[in-house]
Amino acid sequence: MEIKLWRELLDPYAQAVDELILKFNHIKQSYRSRGEYSPIEQVDGRLKTISSILEKAQRKGFELDEMEEKLDDIAGIRIICQFVEDIDKVVDIIRARTDMRIKEEKDYIRENKESGYRSYHIIIYYKVETLSGAKELQCEIQIRTLAMNFWATIEHSLQYKYPQNMPENVSVRLRNAAEATVSLDEEMSYIRGEIIDAQNSFLIKANLVRDILNNIQNLYQKANTREIIKIQDEFFRIYRSDDLDELIRFHKELDIISEGYRSQSLN
Ligand code: GTP
Ligand code: MG
Repeated sequence: MEIKLWRELLDPYAQAVDELILKFNHIKQSYRSRGEYSPIEQVDGRLKTISSILEKAQRKGFELDEMEEKLDDIAGIRIICQFVEDIDKVVDIIRARTDMRIKEEKDYIRENKESGYRSYHIIIYYKVETLSGAKELQCEIQIRTLAMNFWATIEHSLQYKYPQNMPENVSVRLRNAAEATVSLDEEMSYIRGEIIDAQNSFLIKANLVRDILNNIQNLYQKANTREIIKIQDEFFRIYRSDDLDELIRFHKELDIISEGYRSQSLN
């Protein structure tokens, strides 16, 4: 196939990767701006390189014109979660979407692979709009915890070092390491509630501070300088005291003051 044709063929897949990263990042942001815990911690994506497409076509023995049907991971998205429980939530989110149609699911968490690999895989059909019209293509979504990702990254680099002939002692170590990630994920799950509480109160504080600063900035156009300086000093005092309830009270108070100015300027 000509290089130019490769580019035309891969372009919609690159678009799918971009769009899906954007969409999953938005889900994460929506949780956070609501002050809620997000089951999605991090989103990555990649377009398969031409050389690994060629290598896989050769290995699996198919022609290049069957490529789009036989290769389900030209576009790949990886969603990293903090806890094993989050993976099912992300799967539910994907199942409920109308812009992604599920072709296949593989649960390498409940059914471990020989290597020790753990992850939840979903192949979806996803529609992109291109200059030559709409095109539905396949995309692989891998969902895993931080611990699973750590293991898979290391193991993957060792597969490069030892293609097909990983020394037995290395495989044994890797399987031990895989078991260690299982216990790490389990231990973290036990204290999941505590961790989420801690992260949530951090998030609530960050959102409050953002809103308060926005409000003060808007007041600069409406209130007199003396009043603003008073408000600012009050904010810094409360911020330093690290008292979340005080901060919430101040936020409400400031809202009422701003509302007052807003209704004045409307009259
Ligand atoms: P492929 O021919 O690789 O697509 O295998 P498959 O069609 O049976 O799909 P599978 O779901 O098993 O694997 C797809 C992808 O998951 C791979 O391309 C890797 O990114 C990842 N993966 C699967 N098994 C392993 C493993 O043992 N180690 C690591 N590091 N990654 C794996
Ligand atoms: Mg595959």
